[in-house]
Amino acid sequence: MTLTATSESEAPPILTAYEKAASEGIDPRCIPQHLEIPPPIGQDIFAPSYTDAEHRIWQHLFERQMALLPGRASRAYLEGVAVLGFHAQQLPPLRDLSEKLFAATGWQIARIPGLLHPTDFFELLSRRIFPCTDYIRKASELDYTPAPDCFHDIFGHLPMITNPHFANFYQDFGRAALRATPEQQVGLERLHWFCVEFGLVQEDGGRRIFGAGVLSSKEEVLHALSDEVLVLDFDPDRIVAQDYQVWHLQNTLFTHASYAALEAGFRRWCSSQNLL
Ligand SMILES: [Fe+2]
Repeated sequence: MTLTATSESEAPPILTAYEKAASEGIDPRCIPQHLEIPPPIGQDIFAPSYTDAEHRIWQHLFERQMALLPGRASRAYLEGVAVLGFHAQQLPPLRDLSEKLFAATGWQIARIPGLLHPTDFFELLSRRIFPCTDYIRKASELDYTPAPDCFHDIFGHLPMITNPHFANFYQDFGRAALRATPEQQVGLERLHWFCVEFGLVQEDGGRRIFGAGVLSSKEEVLHALSDEVLVLDFDPDRIVAQDYQVWHLQNTLFTHASYAALEAGFRRWCSSQNLL
C-alpha cells in the first residue's frame, strides 16, 4: 500500500504529492478512496482466481527482483520473504499471508480495493492490520505503476512487517497519524515515504534497502545504492522538512542504524510532537 496524506482543514487544503499529481490528471488510480464498508480481514478474505497471465506477471516480477536483492536488500527483509513463503510460481493468497504474518508479529491483512484515504489507512495500521490490494499490474506496467498493486503491497511491504521492531514502529505510525494535525500529517507522509517506502539501513558494514517502494522496483533498487543518491542519517526533524516527488527516482534517502533505532527514534519524535 502506498500512503497518501490529506487534509480536511479549511481552505486552502494542504495537498500531498499524490493528490497534487492526481489533481493534475496523471493517473486517476492515485485518487484516494474511503472504505464504504469494513474490509475483509485475515480468514475472511476470499481468494481470487488469478489467470495464468497474472501468475506469469507475478513470476516475472518476483524473479527479476529476487535476482537483484542479495547483497542489496536488508537481511530482515529477506528473512521476511522466507517467513511468508513467497515463491515465483504462485501469486500468494492474502488469507494465507495474513496467517503467517499474525504468527510472526500479530499483524493481519485487510483486503482493500485500491489507494485508501489516509484516515482509513491509519486506522487499520493502528490496529496492526496492513491494507493490501490483491490485483496485479498489467503486463504493460511491468517496470512502473504509480498506483498500488499487490506486487508492491505483498512483495514490497509484507516481509518487513514480520520484523518485530518494524512492526511496532508501523503501528505507532498509524496511531500517531490518527492524532496528527493536517500539518503534522504532511510531515508523517514524508516519514512514511523516506522510512517505509524508501528506507535504507546499516547492516553488515554497508547500506541495505528495506523500503517497499525500492524493493518492488528494478530501477529504484539499482539507483538507491548508487553514487547518485545523497544518503543522510535518520533524523525525523530533517525528514519532515524534506519534500519529494512521486514520479522520479529519489536522489535523497535516509539510512537507519537499526530497526530498534527506527522504532525508538520515531517514538521519541512522536512524544516531542504530542502524537503518542
Ligand atoms: Fe507502498
